[in-house]
Amino acid sequence: VYIRFIILFFVPFLTLPIHAVSLRGLAEQHTLWVGAAVSGFRLKHDAEYRSVLAREYNMLVAENDMKFHRTHPKEDTYTFVNADAIANFAQKQGMKLRGHTLVWHRAVPDWLEEKEWKAGELSEMLREHILKVAGRYKGQMHAWDVVNEAMTNQGEWRDSFWYKHLGKDYLFNAFRWAKQADPEAKLFYNDYSAAVLNKKSDAIYDLVKEMQGKGIPIDGIGFQLHVKAAKYPNIASMRKNIRRLAALGMEVHFTEIDARLKLPTTKEQFEQQARCYRELLELCLSEPNCKAFLTWGFTDRYSWVYKHFEGYGDALPFDKNYEPKPAYHAMIDVLRGASGRN
Ligand code: XIL
Repeated sequence: VYIRFIILFFVPFLTLPIHAVSLRGLAEQHTLWVGAAVSGFRLKHDAEYRSVLAREYNMLVAENDMKFHRTHPKEDTYTFVNADAIANFAQKQGMKLRGHTLVWHRAVPDWLEEKEWKAGELSEMLREHILKVAGRYKGQMHAWDVVNEAMTNQGEWRDSFWYKHLGKDYLFNAFRWAKQADPEAKLFYNDYSAAVLNKKSDAIYDLVKEMQGKGIPIDGIGFQLHVKAAKYPNIASMRKNIRRLAALGMEVHFTEIDARLKLPTTKEQFEQQARCYRELLELCLSEPNCKAFLTWGFTDRYSWVYKHFEGYGDALPFDKNYEPKPAYHAMIDVLRGASGRN
């Protein structure tokens, strides 16, 4: 009888704390969304991928599956199989969803670039695209990256396909149409190298003010944060930028964090990487308008970094075997130590 009692009552308690400690479990006490970029294909084919995601994260974003070339590969064809897989998984697991991205200078399909557009036609096509894609996830989407990377590092408008054809109106209208398509979703402008105070973040700040002056809806700014672990952005300067955006009523999401290491990696580098993740998360938690902290992927098994930044890698909180790295433990530490906020 005693043994039975011990097994029935104590064994569950012994196992409980292990499951209770997860990024997700701790983040919920802080009303922080902790997320990762994922692929619909991997969700379908990799069970361990699914289980780590379900355990650790309360927000997901599509790494590629909601981009233009994926959702709209031909003029009259939309495909949502992988995008839907992500949205459905998030819903089942009680996770928030971020949409990435409605308008970007990359991921523009060939049919779009090759066609000779008449005035008005291209704008109408973009409108239809946004209504279709954002409309599909209406009510499910916590936030959309409506426009991605529209500014140069010098703070000028990027001379993209969209800008060339439509001027600044492509961006202003994209936000208006996203609002029509999904009035509940928070609308974000997302970019890289604009987390600290610099020419680019100044331009984004001015853009927000310009939009507000025109009555165009915008709710937040996404900081991508693809950084080198050994040389990440200055935290004090990021804080100033987050605060000036707060003064305009903007939320901030850290949308695409990875902290790359020079390969081959050493133990010290993983410690350095842990410091980087620690400081970024401490910063986000300590600024009330910083509400989401997402990494671009979560396991080094699948990361764009190896391909995109030659000689660098191992940038994420889980290794190639889904084992948590020092960066993960640093994040857990921060979430455990920080006082609650709402
Ligand atoms: C990247 C993906 O990770 C890659 O798989 C793809 O080949 C190219 O795009 N900024 C962004 C993301 O906003 O959409 C990019 O994602 C990384 C840089």
